[in-house]
Amino acid sequence: MSKTFHITTFGCQMNEHDSEVMAGMLLEKGFEPVKERRDADVAIINTCSVRENADKRFFGTLGQLKRRKKENPDFIVCVCGCMMQQQHVIDTIKAKYPWVDIIFGTHNIHQFPELVDNALNEKKKQVEIWPDGGEIVEGLPAKRLFDCKALVNIMFGCNNFCTYCIVPYTRGRERSRRPEEIIKEVRNLVSDGVKEIMLLGQNVNSYRGDEKTDFADLLYRLNEIDGLERIRFMTSHPKDLSDKLIQAFVDCDKLCKNIHLPVQSGSSRILKRMNRKYTKDAYLELVAKLKAAVPGITMSTDIIVGFPGETEEDFEETLDLVRKVRYDSAFTFLYSIRKGTPAEKYEEQVAEDVKHERFNRLVDLINSISAEKNAQYTGRIERVLVEGASKTNSKTLSGRTDGFKLVNFEGTKDMIGNLIDVEITEGKTFSLEGRLRK
Ligand code: 5AD
Ligand code: SF4
Repeated sequence: MSKTFHITTFGCQMNEHDSEVMAGMLLEKGFEPVKERRDADVAIINTCSVRENADKRFFGTLGQLKRRKKENPDFIVCVCGCMMQQQHVIDTIKAKYPWVDIIFGTHNIHQFPELVDNALNEKKKQVEIWPDGGEIVEGLPAKRLFDCKALVNIMFGCNNFCTYCIVPYTRGRERSRRPEEIIKEVRNLVSDGVKEIMLLGQNVNSYRGDEKTDFADLLYRLNEIDGLERIRFMTSHPKDLSDKLIQAFVDCDKLCKNIHLPVQSGSSRILKRMNRKYTKDAYLELVAKLKAAVPGITMSTDIIVGFPGETEEDFEETLDLVRKVRYDSAFTFLYSIRKGTPAEKYEEQVAEDVKHERFNRLVDLINSISAEKNAQYTGRIERVLVEGASKTNSKTLSGRTDGFKLVNFEGTKDMIGNLIDVEITEGKTFSLEGRLRK
């Protein structure tokens, strides 16, 4: 009988894609995926270290696996991802969670099948962490979550060192894949039925594939691929958003008119302390340029509330920026201290109750703008890439518009994976309702 596996993924889309690659490698070895972790012979937990609550959930999950390991000593527990690139995490696992069998990091995922073999054959703990990136390993298989859309890494790591962020320490320095490798991968995906790709990187617009290919050049080249319908990317850093990239939105018909542009704060003083390298005004100018060049572009962002030293005035600058930009949606985060980052040492940490109060005010504002913007969609025809059926009602399909709005509508299963015109009947805060055009 073949062995079974289950992957739990915390964190961002880079982690999601790493999990797809791990699943692809195990499938190639003849392992079978299972829906429930309790049914798996091999359980993998892919961790995130961006905020503290992900850490807590990880250790909670590890605790739950102790009993399973006791019942079945052949059960294999693997942990990987960003948290493993921090020595204090490895030390804690070794000391307090001895039932973990395999530990590896973000830079050596390709070694995963070998580590699983070793653990199964030698029945001994496998710990393999690489401190930094090295050569990019190409050609790893991936088991996609969706048939019609795929995540494609174009670069790894980050050189920005925002003072709150752990990523430069866990994902290492920036390394870009060669454009030929990316194009080859996308062509293969398209011949496998993929219509939409999401280009991934911590900071995609600092991509440099070779002397002739920056991020905008890569977009122009991908736009030429026959059969590919949509191109998206995330995440961009405002400091690297060039006029050339804005022009690519105008010229590349496959590039979706949507951008995720994390601002983090609306206060220039706080942005400086965050080492973001732009001011509130510079960000607003950039947004104005984008909106003028790409009419109707939808925008989302990330905002941190309660960064050390954030005053009520600073926070009001954030509210003001949100009112001016009018984001379609936004991810909001309570500042969370990360060990080893410069901001860990900053005095003037903001009190929890103040953070929460500001957080709620910000979310209320963002949601009211989202609802207003979505209401304007009523009556419009939107082209939707249908991703799947709802779990509770198989007639309800959902998919995304070019601008990344989630649309629910009634249809038939054969529409899944296709681009369909849908008439929007109602705009809600987080999604749109629609019906098929008669
Ligand atoms: N605390 C809170 N939010 C953070 N982020 C990154 N580091 C922290 C932190 N220490 C947020 C940023 C980033 C998103 C992925 O996570 O907004 O854009
Ligand atoms: Fe973290 Fe800043 Fe790099 Fe984004 S750009 S990964 S927030 S250091």
